[in-house]
Parts: sequence; C-alpha cells; structure tokens
Amino acid sequence: MSEAPEPIPAASLPISASAPGKCILFGEHAVVRGAPALVLAIDLATQVLVRPGATTSLNGDPDAGVGQPYFRSALELFRAGRPALEVRSVSRIPRGAGLGSSAAFVAALAAALTSAGGGGDRDSLAERSFDIERNAQGVGSPTDTSAAVAGGIVALNAAKGERLWTIARGSDRWEVRRLADPGWTWVVAFSGIRRSTPDAVRAVGERLGRPDGPALLERFRRVSEEGIDALVREDPEGVARAMGANHALLKEVGVSHPRLEELLRAGAPAALGGKLTGAGAGGSVVLLPRAGREIELIRRLARAGGLPFAVRVAPKGASIVGAALENGS
Ligand code: MEV
Repeated sequence: MSEAPEPIPAASLPISASAPGKCILFGEHAVVRGAPALVLAIDLATQVLVRPGATTSLNGDPDAGVGQPYFRSALELFRAGRPALEVRSVSRIPRGAGLGSSAAFVAALAAALTSAGGGGDRDSLAERSFDIERNAQGVGSPTDTSAAVAGGIVALNAAKGERLWTIARGSDRWEVRRLADPGWTWVVAFSGIRRSTPDAVRAVGERLGRPDGPALLERFRRVSEEGIDALVREDPEGVARAMGANHALLKEVGVSHPRLEELLRAGAPAALGGKLTGAGAGGSVVLLPRAGREIELIRRLARAGGLPFAVRVAPKGASIVGAALENGS
C-alpha cells in the first residue's frame, strides 16, 4: 500500500519553509500539451522566512507585492484582506536558469502560508503552488511546482509510478506520480543566459500548433516514455539515449542555443548523455556522468564557461523548517 504524501503541519508565525529546485530529464514543453515528463527535485533549495510586519515586503522591498509576479500572485491567493507579512527568501538555485527557482520560491512560500493558515494536505499545496505560478506566468504545466512540492522523482502523464495527485485546469489534465530514485549523480550547468519561460513556452506552442504539430508531439511522447522506462529499469545507457533524442527534438522546435550546444559538446567525453533542461533558449543543460568521471565532467563544463553543479535527487518536497523537531519525530 502506498502512503498518503506527508501533510503540511499548522504552525504560528514566524515560519520558515524550504523547497527544492528541479531538473527536467524528459518532456519539457510537450508536457504543457499533456505529453509525459520526468522531473527530478534537486538538492539546491530555496528557503523563506515569513513573519508579521508593519507593511508587506519581500527581502525588504515594499513594492514586491505589486512588482514581483510570483509574490503578488501568492498574496492574492493566500492573503487577500489579511495582515501584512515580511518575507525573506534565500536560494542556492540560479534564477532564470531552468532549474526551478520560481517553483521552489512559490512552493516554499505556499507551504509557509498553508502552515500559518492551519496546515493542509500536500495535494492542495500542489494545486495552490501551480495556481500561483500559472497566474504569474500565464502559461505552463504543474511540472516544476509538483517536483518542488513532492520532492524525489516525479513523472507526469506516465503509466509508471505511485499516484500522487491529478491537476486539471479546463481541458488540460496532468496526473502526477512518484518514481523510485536509482541514486545516481547528475551534473547540471547554467549557461549564464537567463531566459523567459513564458516566451519559450509560447514559441513552442506556436510551433506545435502547425499542421505537423501532432506528429511532432507524438515523437516527444515516445521519447519521454522510453526515457521513463529506462529510468525505472535503472538503465543509464537507455536514459542517456532518451536524453539525446529529447534534446534533438527540443533543438528541432527551436529552444536550444549555441551556448547550450557548446556545453553539451564540451561535456560529451565524460558523459553518457545530456540535453538542455527546462524551457531552453538559454538556461541550463543536464548530463549523466560516466561512472567515476563526475569531477572531469564538472571541469570540462566550467572550462567551457558553464556554472556546473553536481546534484542528487532531493527526497523531500516543500517542508516547514524545524517542523519535525517540534513534532518530536
Ligand atoms: C519549464 O521548466 C518547463 C516547461 O515545460 C514549461 C512548463 O511545463 O510549465 C517549458
């Protein structure tokens, strides 16, 4: 029997909460149109501290409640008509890098506000985090926010895994499942080129809306399914092959970038495979290192001008910092 995902406990302010970043292995962009995707919660996190304040602010900025779209969207959903809050946020996730900095901020803040509001279940936290992100961005799927809320390895619209929750908006529907972590180390590298997720999503949406769009989407779907199957059977070569095939499709729909291609070329001798990760058009790449060659891979990526990180899967999703201590567990 599978266990229900751990709920968010009630607590009183001040509350600190943390949520992991993410790295998409298969299916970015295509998942917006319902294709399968696979995403890792990674051990780079964002932490927020929420406490009562004289005026609402984010990191000392009293205008953020209007000017920072994710903060504004969270306040609209959770705090309309409620007393002012001072929020501080610190993150190890580079911004605009395709590594889920917005989703981690949103999930950590939503967890803290859920806790301040009496606690709640994780399914609702996933729904609310998605709503905050989608209201701020105007487009997208619950891939990033689901990883930030669930932790671990998360598959969307896949036949494999233990069911976590289903998120439906209009005619769009995403079923979210958990897969076992084979415990591998991954290497991500930020190109230094920040990009806008909504712009990339709209451009790919336009491409997939052309007459050959359905056939192209079907190829994305097949590659994600092959990659998910390979991960489930813990077959690194199969995973790497699917990463390469997924990258080729992302390049075909126009979201690679010369800097990403350079990074992938530079890392190739020390990696089984690699691809861009996230919305693309800049952002980051993810590579699966050859056994024992992680350091060499990191050096190669750094020499090519990337900002590399060795990452592992973060097993825990959004959580209240110190809650386990208070519960005595
Ligand atoms: C961005 O991290 C992933 C995209 O598929 C957009 C989304 O799913 O919301 C490009």
